[in-house]
Amino acid sequence: MAVIAPSLLSADFTRMGEEVREIESAGTQVLHIDIMDGHFVPNLTFGYSMVKALRPITGMVFDVHLMMTDPVNYIENFAKAGSDVITVHTECDSELDKCIDLIHKCGKKAGLSIKPKTSPEALFPYLDMIEHILVMTVEPGFGGQSMMTDCLDKISVIKAECTARGLNIPIMIDGGVNASNVRMAAKAGADMMVAGNAVFGASDRAAAFRELSELSQI
Ligand code: DX5
Ligand code: ZN
Repeated sequence: MAVIAPSLLSADFTRMGEEVREIESAGTQVLHIDIMDGHFVPNLTFGYSMVKALRPITGMVFDVHLMMTDPVNYIENFAKAGSDVITVHTECDSELDKCIDLIHKCGKKAGLSIKPKTSPEALFPYLDMIEHILVMTVEPGFGGQSMMTDCLDKISVIKAECTARGLNIPIMIDGGVNASNVRMAAKAGADMMVAGNAVFGASDRAAAFRELSELSQI
C-alpha cells in the first residue's frame, strides 16, 4: 500500500486547523505542504509561519515541498518551524549539495524533486545524500491538474539506480493523483503519493483518503 499524503494546498484556508485534525483522524500520517515563491512557479502559497502554526496541533510528518528559486536561504526557518522532510528542486538556483547539507545539519530529512521535463538522471549525483525523492507528475504551481502519466516511467529508472547502489529511498509522486489513476501509479512503483484535490476536494475527506489508500494496494 502506498502512503497517501494529502496536500494542504487544496485545503479550505478558512479552517486550516480543522482540516488538519480531520485528515489526521482519518489515519493520515504524512501531510504535504507546498511552498511557492511566485518565481520558481507562477503562484504563491504560504510561508514557515503556517508550518509553525500547525506544528503543535498534529503529530503528522510534515513533508515540505519548496518550489523556490533560492531555497537555501529559507531552509533553516522551515526546519525550525517544524518540518520533518524538506524537499528542494534539482532545477532551483541554489547549490544542491549545500541545501542537502543544511537540511541535514538542521536534523531533517532531505528530499530532491524533478519537474516533468527533467530526466531522472538529474537525481543520480545526489542519491547517496538524500532520504526522499519527489517526482512531479504535473508542472508545479497549481493543484487540481491532470496527471502526466508518462512521468511514472521515471520511477523504475530511479529504482533501478537505487537498487544498484544498495539504496532504498522512498519515491513520492506529486500531481493529479485520483481514484482512477492511483492503482496505475502504485503499479509503476510509487511508494508515496501526494493527493490534493482528490482528498480536500471531496466532501468526506476521510472517505476519500481511505479510498485512495485502499486502491493503492497492489
Ligand atoms: C503542485 C503541488 C502539488 C499539488 C497537488 O505544484 O506540488 O503538491 O498540491 O495537487 P493535486 O493532487 O490536486 O494535483
Ligand atoms: Zn507538492
